[in-house]
Amino acid sequence: MAERTTLIAGNWKMNASSEMAVNLIDGLLTWPGKPGVEMLVCPPSPYLGPVGAMISESDIRLGAQTCHPNASGAHTGDVAAEMLADLGCSYVIVGHSERRADHGETDADVHAQAEATHRAGLSAIVCVGETEAERDAGKTLDIVGAQVANSVPDGATAENTVVAYEPVWAIGTGRTPTSDQVQEVHAAIRSGLKERFGDAIASGMRLLYGGSMKPSNAAELLALADVDGGLIGGASLKAEDFTAIADAAG
Ligand code: 13P
Repeated sequence: MAERTTLIAGNWKMNASSEMAVNLIDGLLTWPGKPGVEMLVCPPSPYLGPVGAMISESDIRLGAQTCHPNASGAHTGDVAAEMLADLGCSYVIVGHSERRADHGETDADVHAQAEATHRAGLSAIVCVGETEAERDAGKTLDIVGAQVANSVPDGATAENTVVAYEPVWAIGTGRTPTSDQVQEVHAAIRSGLKERFGDAIASGMRLLYGGSMKPSNAAELLALADVDGGLIGGASLKAEDFTAIADAAG
């Protein structure tokens, strides 16, 4: 099996203030690090510059929560991947289920955002996941497989693309799938990627789990064969919890 660096990514969503960002980053900067574990923070876009400055001397990476497909132009309120690269981002989360729900983003939109991320030289974290109704109907693997196929662009490599499996019903609910369910979906994602991109790319690509990951369940989830990290919401807002999750990796 290819060696994959574990990625522990914090998605702050629409949560921050200047004071909160300083306190949280101060806490994260006390984390001594762990070999084979990469820590990433994704604050809301107004805080990317200040947070980037706070972590610039550290190994903590900076990421954004979305981007527009275009590099510039008349798109009021939107942010281009090139701007995110200019601000020091390494990653862009695309296709989070909250963007799919709040902004009607489709797989085609997510595909275009991932391409824009690649064009800017950044890595895309492409999010997929089924709703509870879809899981109950036994459609999880079909839904997730189609989302991956239609959202991940042809230029994807192990370096520029990460896939995050986030069951919609597990986000912010305290509920998680069983370890067997998570591994089943991750194995299916990797096998779909293998068919399309070949063994070398697919076995090097990181697959994250997201949805109510916390210190008490992180070790079990992160130990699964095809889970290469976590995309963490609520627990990424507390330095103690986020670093405990990073410590549980590997
Ligand atoms: P929670 O960790 O709060 O469930 O959020 C998960 C998520 O959506 C991360 O992108």
